[in-house]
Amino acid sequence: MHIIANWKQYLSPEQEIALAKSIITSSNFYLGHHLTLLPSFLTLREIADHIIVNQSSIQVGAQDFAVSLVSAQTGSIRADFIKTETVLIAHSEREKINHETIEDFSQKLQLALSLKKKVILCFGEKELLENDESLLLHLKKQVQIYSNLLGTDSTKVTLAYEPQWSIGGTKTASVTIIKKVLALAKTFGFSEMVYGGSVAAESIQQLYFPELAGFLVGRASTNSSSLQAIFAALKQLSL
Ligand code: PGA
Repeated sequence: MHIIANWKQYLSPEQEIALAKSIITSSNFYLGHHLTLLPSFLTLREIADHIIVNQSSIQVGAQDFAVSLVSAQTGSIRADFIKTETVLIAHSEREKINHETIEDFSQKLQLALSLKKKVILCFGEKELLENDESLLLHLKKQVQIYSNLLGTDSTKVTLAYEPQWSIGGTKTASVTIIKKVLALAKTFGFSEMVYGGSVAAESIQQLYFPELAGFLVGRASTNSSSLQAIFAALKQLSL
């Protein structure tokens, strides 16, 4: 399973470094799985370098980057200046808080691919829709736009299905829905999808099914014990 730890801006730089170090030094808990850490930009370089020094199997990635390589972008981070291979694109908080659009995300996607980045691409609905049919129709529009852009490169991208209403709370999408969304993604050439939104050790047991590549985890990935509990839950599922 691929567990992607999206630390957002929950931790101070000192806390991020301490958490990364404690993860690296207790390597046995994630053994056999694929772990990607997405720290803030303040510690990204340091954590990535530390992980390289430790020859750990963990990946490190950026939570976002600027929409273009234009130099005059005060406060933004250019993608070609980011040394890590992995990047997250289109997290719904970028839309909700920073008012970014699917056009911005598409531009970022093209930019990331031109720089040979490994992309985790989020999509999902804002609110709970009244029935599965309208939900799938809504999601199809997003997936189609990305698929048209990517063509055969779709297989290189990890999709992250993250319903906005499920983020940061306790409600998750149902497995039935996640399975339908994965089937939809596959019809558009995507081969790998993770689920995100209120994932924790307690919810993982209900959310897991073999075709799902993994989980994108926010809050529950920001401390060592809840992160380790996720891997313990996977172990209980014999994974
Ligand atoms: P959450 O966040 O696990 O805290 O719901 C997930 C995400 O936004 O990536």
